[in-house]
Amino acid sequence: MLRRLYHDQPASFAFTPANQAWAEGQIAKYPEGRQASAIIPLLWRAQEQEGWLTRAAIEHVSTMLDLAFIRGLEVASFYFMFQLQPVGSVAHIQICGTLSCMICGAEDLVAVCRVKIADKAHALSSDGKFSWEEVECLGSCANAPMAQIGKDYYEDLTAARLSEIIDELAAGKVPTPGPQNGRFAAEPLKGLTSLKENDSGKYQYNASVQLAVDIGDTVKRIDGTEVPLLTPWIYKAGKAAPAKTAPAKKAAIAPAAKSSPAKPDVAAATEKKPRTMDAPRKSGADDLKRISGVGPKLEGVLNDMGFWHFDQISKWGAGEISWVDSRLKFKGRIERDDWVDQATKLAAET
Ligand code: FES
Repeated sequence: MLRRLYHDQPASFAFTPANQAWAEGQIAKYPEGRQASAIIPLLWRAQEQEGWLTRAAIEHVSTMLDLAFIRGLEVASFYFMFQLQPVGSVAHIQICGTLSCMICGAEDLVAVCRVKIADKAHALSSDGKFSWEEVECLGSCANAPMAQIGKDYYEDLTAARLSEIIDELAAGKVPTPGPQNGRFAAEPLKGLTSLKENDSGKYQYNASVQLAVDIGDTVKRIDGTEVPLLTPWIYKAGKAAPAKTAPAKKAAIAPAAKSSPAKPDVAAATEKKPRTMDAPRKSGADDLKRISGVGPKLEGVLNDMGFWHFDQISKWGAGEISWVDSRLKFKGRIERDDWVDQATKLAAET
């Protein structure tokens, strides 16, 4: 199957502010020089935001990662999970057409899609609300036939039930995902034959369905406000970090405190320019690449800013970190890798 960019493309793409913050957090996870590794999560978030991957979105993500556009296009066109054409404004329905589902009636589900949505896969319904495609095994074979609609699985489907689900979605409802024939999960159709004393009867839904119901974003476009941002190091003053997540993540990242002083509160700090130097001292510049998280490219950036020695970095307080951080392309790295602490130790060695 040829995977090409759609002929009718929007002129531009931008992440929502929350998605932009999330994307920067993803990039900051990777070591200097390896930011391209963030391409799949960023493309995926762009698709979650827009429903499909536009040329502008691929270019935007490629630019964020310092990649040639063709590199972004290679990834986007290789993976079938990326939709390169518009999808239904309400839902894109993915019918599993692999063995178990095919044996159990996937062709009937496809027939429903052909009638109710569009004759051809990847085409929009006449009202633009739906699109569909046949996909490979989605790993829910014990509940065949099944379909993924938006982010969730609808299992144990019949043609009649799929037809109803489409109608319900068109009416603005979101049918409960999971088995559609009364099964709790993937137990035998005639009921449990063992482990009968388990406590599944206490729950209305299995764990996956319960989570889908709790989150409630089955067919929602993701703008970044609905999920916790697991990137505490990118928070600046005025941005609310999730109260529970941020401290927990920070504790996991930060090395065990010995006698080092309390960390500066960068998020609350006002930018303050650190003392810079026009050139390294006569003894020569320190090898800033010895700081974990600083690669050759970042070392050059630091030198250009006037930082050549460990002891310069060791003196940075919250305001100075904030000043430098705002001038780096990938934010949050100074705190995440604790440059100041590293530089203090390295300065003591030299
Ligand atoms: S064959 Fe359909 S989910 Fe595996």
